[in-house]
Formats: sequence, C-alpha cells, structure tokens
Amino acid sequence: MSTASTMKSLASALALVAPVYAGLRFPCSTLTIQRLDPVVQPGALPAAHVHHIVGGNAFNATMTGDVGERATCTTCQMAEDFSNYWTAVLYFKHPTNGSYHRVPVVPVQPLLGGSNGAQGGLTVYYTQFDLTRDNIKQQPVKTFPPGFRMTVGSPTQTSRPHVGLRYQCLQGQNRGAEMPDFPTRPCSGGIFTTHHFPACWDGKNLDSPDHQSHMYNTIRLDGFTNAPACPSSHPVRMPQVTFETVWDTTKFNSMWPSGAPNPFVWSFEGTSGFGTHADYMFGWKGDSLQRAMDKSECFYDGCGSIKKQAMQTANKCTIQKTVGEEVDGWLEKLPGMEM
Ligand SMILES: *[C@@H]1O[C@H](CO)[C@@H](O)[C@H](O)[C@H]1NC(C)=O
Ligand SMILES: *[C@@H]1O[C@H](CO)[C@@H](O)[C@H](O)[C@H]1NC(C)=O
Repeated sequence: MSTASTMKSLASALALVAPVYAGLRFPCSTLTIQRLDPVVQPGALPAAHVHHIVGGNAFNATMTGDVGERATCTTCQMAEDFSNYWTAVLYFKHPTNGSYHRVPVVPVQPLLGGSNGAQGGLTVYYTQFDLTRDNIKQQPVKTFPPGFRMTVGSPTQTSRPHVGLRYQCLQGQNRGAEMPDFPTRPCSGGIFTTHHFPACWDGKNLDSPDHQSHMYNTIRLDGFTNAPACPSSHPVRMPQVTFETVWDTTKFNSMWPSGAPNPFVWSFEGTSGFGTHADYMFGWKGDSLQRAMDKSECFYDGCGSIKKQAMQTANKCTIQKTVGEEVDGWLEKLPGMEM
C-alpha cells in the first residue's frame, strides 16, 4: 500500500474504533542535539549531558519570559507552537571496544494529517482526558501560562519509574508491550520511548526547585489512560503532554552479541533505563493552545482553529550550535562524562 492509502485507511480505522479523539498529536523535527538544559541547568554552557531538542528557535541555555513571543520559527507542525521539548540522547556502547555512537532518531510512524517529511524529532501529544475520551465539559483543561516549565523522570532514578515512562521494542513498525526498562534483546524496528508528563498543576508556580513538585502525576496505567480528578494540592487540570521517540537502533543490532546485556545507554552514562527523563518548556503563542484544547474534536488535524505548517517549512527552522563539541561519530567517552 502507498503511504497515502495507509494513512487514509488508518485514519478511517481510527474513525471506526472511536468516534472522538480528544487532543492534539503532531510531529516536531529535530532542532538541535547539544549539551543544553535551560530548565535543570539554566545558563550552563555546556550542561551535564547531551539532549535531543525539538521546537522553537528561542531555545537557549537560559530561557525566561514568554517564549512564544520571542521565537520566530518552530520545527513542529503546529506553526504557533514555539515550545521546546527534549529528552536525553540514546547512545550505543560498543560491547568490546567501549566506544560510543549516537543512535539516530526517526519519525514515529505513521505520520498522519499530511505531516510527512519530519526529520528525526519526536511526536508530541496534548490530550484532554485520555486518547479516546472527550470530557472537556466535565473537566475543563487550562493551558500552561508563559514561562511554565516542568520535567518528568530523573537521571538518578534507580527503581522503576511511574508507568508514564516506558520503552517498547519495535518489530518492524509494530509496537510491543510497554516496559519500564530497556529491551533485553535486539529490536528490529528500533526502541520506542514514551514520556507522559503529569497533568495536575498547583495553579501558582511556573516551576519548582525540583522542576516537578508544582505538578502532580495521576498516571497509574500504561497508555493514555490517566485522568482521574486532580488532588486539592494540585487542582488545575492541564493538557497531558506526551512525547514519543523512535531510536533507530537497527544498524547497531549486528554489533550486539547474542546473550550480551543491552548495549544502549542514555547520554548521562545511564545503563539502567529507569533514568529516562524529559523536559518541557511551554511556548505556544498567545491563546493558540487554549483554543485547540477547548474544542472537543481536535485530534491530528489541529481543529481547524490553529495554524499548521508543512514539515518542509518546519525543517528550515534551525539554531546555532552554542556548545562546540562532537556528539556524533565514534566517541571514546560520552560528552561531559568522565569515562
Ligand atoms: C541566547 O542567549 C544569548 C546570551 O544570553 C543571547 O545573546 C542570544 O541572543 C540568545 N539567543 C536567542 C536565540 O535567544
Ligand atoms: C570500536 O568499534 C567500532 C565499530 O567497529 C569502530 O568504528 C571504532 O573505531 C572502534 N573504537 C575503537 C576505540 O577502536
């Protein structure tokens, strides 16, 4: 089947399965891969470890104020979304000689709604309740204020993270069971990571010292099934933000000897998958996200009330590298790491 007909049949299959998909889903191409982290280490040039960053061109070591007013372009399909989204970067560690190689990112398939042409990047979701239910009338969603930021997960996590942080071992394009840790065998279609952010806000703080306690996580089950009522400590229901990333591990699979442990590590030398984490810097222009979230049926197509751009246009959005170091090719050590 052609891509177009695959997309069409998927779209009609989705339409049959559930009448309403509440929320946005769209691709963002890679903006930059550098050691920068304006949420956890503002001003640090370089930050501790390498990140894969998508979104608006106001991205910088320090980010304050209304990002949506300062940025002039974005790598995201939604043209008014100048937010930045980032995660750690996956590296392959050669099992015998110990060299590292960055694992490329590829777009999450299938890309819907005319969004083909994304380069690397990740897919972003903003859901209202869960993926298949719209209860906007019962539980209105308030979108993030300018300056808002948060993280989910932590590189120092050593036990199972909450179920919003998951891995899947792709076989071809097929997803598999959601797992809390790295796959233990080669995945023919790459490694798929999911980062679900919490959706309950304290209503006051744009950030908090740990970048997390101004938010409350209600996610208890795998998938997009996470919206029981918010607690009184964090009473404001926000959009539930999710990132999906596909790490194309395929060209390294032949260098993974049978029976050997998983050779993939996070850029903070994270050999356990439990340390997976992600950062969010809100940057939608004006009330554009609120307009989208106030509509019931705005899945994939942006509701018709917010602007989209061709991915060819999104791909032209770039920033200068401010940390001058090699993050690609075979490296003896991970950037910023001792060993
Ligand atoms: C990034 O920060 C530097 C120094 O603070 C500033 O000079 C520069 O204009 C900023 N770039 C962007 C794109 O905001
Ligand atoms: C480790 O192996 C890879 C793949 O064969 C090679 O490209 C790289 O140069 C090797 N590193 C060292 C330090 O020998």
